Amino acid sequence: MEQITLAIGKGRTAKDAIKLLEKANITFPDFNGDSRKLIFYSADKTIKMLYVKSVDVTTYVEQGAAHIGIVGRDNILEQEADLYEFLDLKIGQCRFSVASLHDIALQKGKTIKVATKYPNIAKQFFAKKGMTIEAIKLNGSVELAPLIGMSDCIVDIVETGSTIRENGLTIIEDIEHISTRVVVNKASFATKTDEIQRFIEKLKVVVE
Ligand code: PRP
Repeated sequence: MEQITLAIGKGRTAKDAIKLLEKANITFPDFNGDSRKLIFYSADKTIKMLYVKSVDVTTYVEQGAAHIGIVGRDNILEQEADLYEFLDLKIGQCRFSVASLHDIALQKGKTIKVATKYPNIAKQFFAKKGMTIEAIKLNGSVELAPLIGMSDCIVDIVETGSTIRENGLTIIEDIEHISTRVVVNKASFATKTDEIQRFIEKLKVVVE
């Protein structure tokens, strides 16, 4: 009965994504964000949802284990994922920013230490400025690094700005705006065009 497999990332955008799906009449009656279950089915059993770590959504989709993924553009960019990006869901709105304790000059030729969950994005951003960086990869609490002198600055997501503020950091420069997107496995789009398009059309209506 099931026609498509959808991967959704746990964490802050999962709730909003589920709400948006509900608005589009795609409901998952058994879904509970606090549950340890990893697979949920839509009410009409046509969609199988894999509830995975956000950072892994693009992997499930690239591997074809999920036909569709709902994932932040931050993860798409960092992982240079080879998939189709079809729809901006306009949720999970935030930005990538460079932040530091002091107003450091981002000058050509300079080398700085940057703590980040996104080393590829950070390297690309500073390379465009003619700067080289030593990227220190962290998996969370990135804002701590400049406070203890482990890095000159951070590249991280800023949503409300409260983590930056509460830790006394200042935004030096914004890199780009990001939000949650619908991504599709390239081969799946060829074999399941109708099912995938129907799913995207339903979401498009509620986003617009
Ligand atoms: C993210 C991000 C920032 C914070 C930004 O971390 O890495 O630290 O949220 O949000 P704000 O601007 O609303 O404060 P997350 O909450 O995912 O936790 P982490 O530090 O464990 O990665």
